[in-house]
Amino acid sequence: KSIAVIVVAAGQGERASVNGDAVPKQYRPIGGKPVVARTVAAFLDVEAVSHVLPVIHADHDGNFAALDLADARLLPPVSGGASRQASVLEGLKALEPLQPDYVLIHDAARPFVPRALIEAVIAAIADNDGALPTLPVTDTIKRSPDGHMVAGTEDRRQLHAAQTPQGFSFERIFSAHRRAAQIERDFTDDAEIAEWAQLRVVMVPGDRDNIKITHPDDFNRAERLLQGDSR
Ligand code: CTP
Ligand code: MG
Repeated sequence: KSIAVIVVAAGQGERASVNGDAVPKQYRPIGGKPVVARTVAAFLDVEAVSHVLPVIHADHDGNFAALDLADARLLPPVSGGASRQASVLEGLKALEPLQPDYVLIHDAARPFVPRALIEAVIAAIADNDGALPTLPVTDTIKRSPDGHMVAGTEDRRQLHAAQTPQGFSFERIFSAHRRAAQIERDFTDDAEIAEWAQLRVVMVPGDRDNIKITHPDDFNRAERLLQGDSR
């Protein structure tokens, strides 16, 4: 099977920025190495991966070029869109000529994705249309439509927090994404688009180290993770 990976890195990283002119989070270093360089390397480390395609913001061309990444399996970056969903669609379009069997879609902001997790997602696609890593929810989840008064409590045993990479049959997720782009709805991840298209999506165990760099203090947490101290 040929397996392509889309690394979506076209966001502005607003929540992680401390001052307006700071380098966007995906280009900031953790342990001396920029976040997206780590993420790309994690996938190139997996032999089964045929291609890695970065999707970047047009304004960040220079930041990306400065990473000086080179690998036979690394494709030139393409420009993303205004939403994560739009960025993924740009990636899928760019992969169309390659016709991969599977595509993995991953957040550049998750640089600590373990090799075993990538392999587990790939293995799970075969008997389904798609696969994603999830973790059991540990907090009790309250429902509150007005964000003030508690309307109820969810059954935590049925809830699972989604991570990336999310892997799919290329043809099926591309078709679903193209259709999803026609309607007025904000999908929060690619698995939701697959669900909406009635594809079969299976969960595999996620990894607690596979954090998404979202807020400024996540950089401190990331440095600690690198030092093998996950407090
Ligand atoms: N992303 C993207 N294109 C967008 C928005 C997001 O490729 N238009 C990517 C981000 O670069 C990131 C991943 O999707 O790797 C997950 O998004 P998130 O963590 O929300 O990153 P940002 O959107 O950059 O951050 P923020 O929402 O705080 O601005
Ligand atoms: Mg965002």
